[in-house]
Amino acid sequence: MTGKLMIAGGRPLRGTITISGAKNSAVALIPAAILAETSVVLDNLPRISDVGIYEEILTELGAVVTWDEDSMRIDPSSMKSIPMPNGNVKKLRASYYLMGAMLGRFGEATIGLPGGCNFEPRPIDQHIKGFEALGAEVSNEGGSIRIRARELRGAKIYLDVVSVGATINIMLAASRAKGITLIENAAKEPEIIDVATLLNSMGAKIKGAGTETIRIEGVDSMRGCRHSIIPDRIQAGSYMIAAAATRGDVLVDNVIPKHLEALTAKLQEMGVHIYEMDEAIRVVGQPEYESVDVKALVYPGFATDLQSPMTSLLTQAKGVSILSDFVYNNRFKHVPELVRMGAKIKVEGRSAVIEGGVLNAAKVKATDLRAGASLFIAGLTVPEGVTEITGTEYIYRGYENLVPNLRGLGAEIWVGEEE
Ligand code: EPZ
Repeated sequence: MTGKLMIAGGRPLRGTITISGAKNSAVALIPAAILAETSVVLDNLPRISDVGIYEEILTELGAVVTWDEDSMRIDPSSMKSIPMPNGNVKKLRASYYLMGAMLGRFGEATIGLPGGCNFEPRPIDQHIKGFEALGAEVSNEGGSIRIRARELRGAKIYLDVVSVGATINIMLAASRAKGITLIENAAKEPEIIDVATLLNSMGAKIKGAGTETIRIEGVDSMRGCRHSIIPDRIQAGSYMIAAAATRGDVLVDNVIPKHLEALTAKLQEMGVHIYEMDEAIRVVGQPEYESVDVKALVYPGFATDLQSPMTSLLTQAKGVSILSDFVYNNRFKHVPELVRMGAKIKVEGRSAVIEGGVLNAAKVKATDLRAGASLFIAGLTVPEGVTEITGTEYIYRGYENLVPNLRGLGAEIWVGEEE
């Protein structure tokens, strides 16, 4: 789906939204299947463009991929190791997981440097440090990373930066290394536990995922299995924020409330009413909100991926809020667009200083996925006129069925033709 998003805001969102499987798990679980010798079935996959691109990549590598509703069957038995310097790998950042998965299965990988949401330079030095520690030789050949190892050996790897991608990539390769790998200062995001759960079902021996030390005992072979993906906490959080921003009343269903604790606490601090159930969260918006300070940190802190959506909500609070991002240096490309909509926001170093006020309709552009989320949330709050959002290809990378979902909640949103 392409075309600009058109939103006539000012309507409270009301109803129930069911959250799909997590994008950031899916883009790691699909390449993880490369390590198996028989078919892996992934249930609860989101139908988003990143998943479609990964399906094409695996097919190019010789896997047989079939769908049954939201389940993907990947038969990796006839896969071959072929260099992938260009093409689809450039379209998504998470193509870097091909490095760890192909290294584990074939002992080699040549992968073009990944594309995706480029809101700031995002190095992969910790991934490379991990592969080298496992005994691989890594070189950069004309913009492609070439990795080779005669034999992968377990090692102790201390990550200088807490990185989700490096933690998962090292787990993938180390699952097939000889001996034991310890990842110290590992990332603790729920998606890491999800990948470890799949790998263990495939025969890997991984302990400690979700803590800062992960122990991986390498195995000689891995088999297929069936795995259901965790719900997308960022998609869920975005709808929670949208419900609060429009002063609506929304039941966000199929979530793991614990994954959203940092957001829930901040929303409550602002004055939003939240009711947690086993697998759902009800968000009841209020006429007025207090300003709050938010610090985006690694998990279990407030998610950086909800920082941009939260910026839009904070424009609806009384007084001045300060929102800081300690994961990325400069993830504020949404701010100039929100300013076009009348927001009073100044970026100072790693922080955005946000003064509450009413937003107005404008023509704005999404420059990355979560910047896009901040814009559709802002558009939903605008009391008069029509907000037009271009750059929607970024938004569809992470939000399955966005337009029908929001319409189902009572939003007046439609797709217009891009000029
Ligand atoms: C994952 O990216 C997510 N993407 C991102 O989600 C998310 O913003 C990020 O984790 C942080 O939570 C996927 O899972 C596909 P990192 P990742 O390595 O793994 C620095 C979204 O909107 N760093 O944890 O690539 C890096 O620059 C997206 O859904 C190094 O310096 O992020 C950043 O400042 C966007 N060297 C910080 O660490 C490295 O080798 C955290 O990055 C790796 C990372």
